[in-house]
Amino acid sequence: MLKFDILTLFPEMFAGAFSESIINRARERGFVEIALHNIRDYAPGKHRVTDDTPYGGGGGMIMKPEPIFYAVEAVLGVDIPPEGYATLRRQGYPPVILLTPQGRLFNQPLARQMVTTHQHLVLICGRYEGVDERVRQFLATDELSIGDYVLSGGEIGAMVVVDALTRLIPGVLGDDAATAKDSHSEGLLEHPHYTRPAEFRGHGIPDILLSGHHANQQVWRRQQSLARTLARRPDLLETASLTDADHDFLRSLGQGSPVEQQPDSK
Ligand code: ADE
Repeated sequence: MLKFDILTLFPEMFAGAFSESIINRARERGFVEIALHNIRDYAPGKHRVTDDTPYGGGGGMIMKPEPIFYAVEAVLGVDIPPEGYATLRRQGYPPVILLTPQGRLFNQPLARQMVTTHQHLVLICGRYEGVDERVRQFLATDELSIGDYVLSGGEIGAMVVVDALTRLIPGVLGDDAATAKDSHSEGLLEHPHYTRPAEFRGHGIPDILLSGHHANQQVWRRQQSLARTLARRPDLLETASLTDADHDFLRSLGQGSPVEQQPDSK
């Protein structure tokens, strides 16, 4: 069981993403628990103010620290000591992850590492122009970005993290082999897939897939995967684990052999 506590100003945003398909089924079957907490509920004062203007000017609004600290304390049932949350983390309390474009880039190896290491994660969704720096200094144990672009808040990032981790929990997809072959799982992009009909509007499928020759099909899939990665994401080849046969094949591509059945340049 993997538990997510998500702190957000917009809990309603998550309804659709978490009530469909794989995540919903994983929740129903007890593989994941997702609790949404509205940061506003923890803001002190009659008006429950969660943001304010920045010291020193500069415009925009900044999320205030108190509601976020109070929310984490209430959700985990613990007081954060004056020196900060890191002490609690060392005592076994869960990671507190701030979603922000300034964070460490989230990717498939990190998703796998997180799902094998943790049973409980607290995700904080930033908003507005930013979050008071003391949330970073004395509360968050990690900061994650889902990509080099700026979203209007961390909510979509939190959905991405929950989705990517949930489908990696053993049993969630039924077939664990399914995630082993995903794009990025072996450091390569996935090979192309086809299903029936064998001919659609005059477009066929590669003959080898109709040949019934399992071993050759496996070689074909691996080569397609390598060719596609070379064409679209050559950077991935630098860290992928490649066999001698893979290297030979990639070298043969460099010499211009026609491998990709479907040209990747559109
Ligand atoms: N909040 C705003 N932009 C973000 C990003 N790229 N990743 C995670 N959280 C964000």
